[in-house]
Amino acid sequence: MAKPVTTLSEFIIEREKDFPYATGDLSQLLTSIRLAAKLVNREVNKAGLVNEILGETEQHSVNVQGERQQKLDVYANERFINAMRNQGAVCAVASEENDDHIVFNNPTSASGKYVVAIDPLDGSSNIDVNVSIGTIFSIYRRLDPGKVTVEDFLQPGNRQVAAGYVVYGSSTMLVYTTGNGVNGFTLDPSIGVFCLSHPNMRIPGDGKIYSVNEGNYFDFPANVRDYIDACKRRKFSARYIGSLVADFHRNLLKGGIYMYPGTTSKPNGKLRLVYEGNPLALLAEQAGGAATDGRTRILDIKPAQLHQRVPLFIGSPAMVEEVMQA
Ligand code: AHG
Ligand code: MN
Ligand code: MN
Repeated sequence: MAKPVTTLSEFIIEREKDFPYATGDLSQLLTSIRLAAKLVNREVNKAGLVNEILGETEQHSVNVQGERQQKLDVYANERFINAMRNQGAVCAVASEENDDHIVFNNPTSASGKYVVAIDPLDGSSNIDVNVSIGTIFSIYRRLDPGKVTVEDFLQPGNRQVAAGYVVYGSSTMLVYTTGNGVNGFTLDPSIGVFCLSHPNMRIPGDGKIYSVNEGNYFDFPANVRDYIDACKRRKFSARYIGSLVADFHRNLLKGGIYMYPGTTSKPNGKLRLVYEGNPLALLAEQAGGAATDGRTRILDIKPAQLHQRVPLFIGSPAMVEEVMQA
């Protein structure tokens, strides 16, 4: 007899019982993320066929980081924001693609308990070449029921209520945590349902994969260069997709370390603390891994700005420890 399948919606409802005072708002929020993920997945899958979805925006717009926006960046941003705007649990969203956070003033959402920070499309440079991309999200409880400010998004990562990502790859997966372990769901495209495929994910304590853009090697701090040299002497595998979500996901399953260190010209590296570093750090720790900026635990850093960058070393705990000691 076929094994019974647990769907993401069943799992969300099941887990709600773990929170004694749960009102169902977080479940509703995760449900809207699930819906947006399916819509984005549909577009990603036909990206090669329909050129309205490939390439840069017609306006050649740039986002707040000065990076060229791809059509899918904009599409994904709209889908995730609209899904949350319309369901009531979220009062504001901050996104990589918007300069400032967006407050929902519509009656359904104005009193929402949560704020969400998202990287709607991670790995944009891989869209046009059919390589895995992702979405990253981070959920906080709002600080003051009376008003929403940027401070709601500048809480340290250790205050996250939930975090997760979607990876649009050879299959599409949604992986998330509410602070009680990490679970992964694979989209069955024939029925459009996410099914629990990776219960209670644990990252191996040590690994043999290192993921870093070695093109920047000569600009890295000496300890990072030493660590990379040590990986090579041990004949570790170099694996770098250039989509943080996909690199992180592989290392979560197989064991490994992802590094985006500061460089001489960019001392804080490239990745963003609020919607890349923090959510992945929570997932890493919840799966038994570690995440630091080289000195400090990522989750203990108090963000000063929404789009602040942070050096990131994340993955198997023994490897993160070793690069910090190097
Ligand atoms: P995004 O597409 O959201 O801007 O993120 C791109 C990030 C991350 O996904 C990836 O790991 C990194 O940029 C790659 O940067 P390099 O090309 O500098 O290696
Ligand atoms: Mn990104
Ligand atoms: Mn992005």
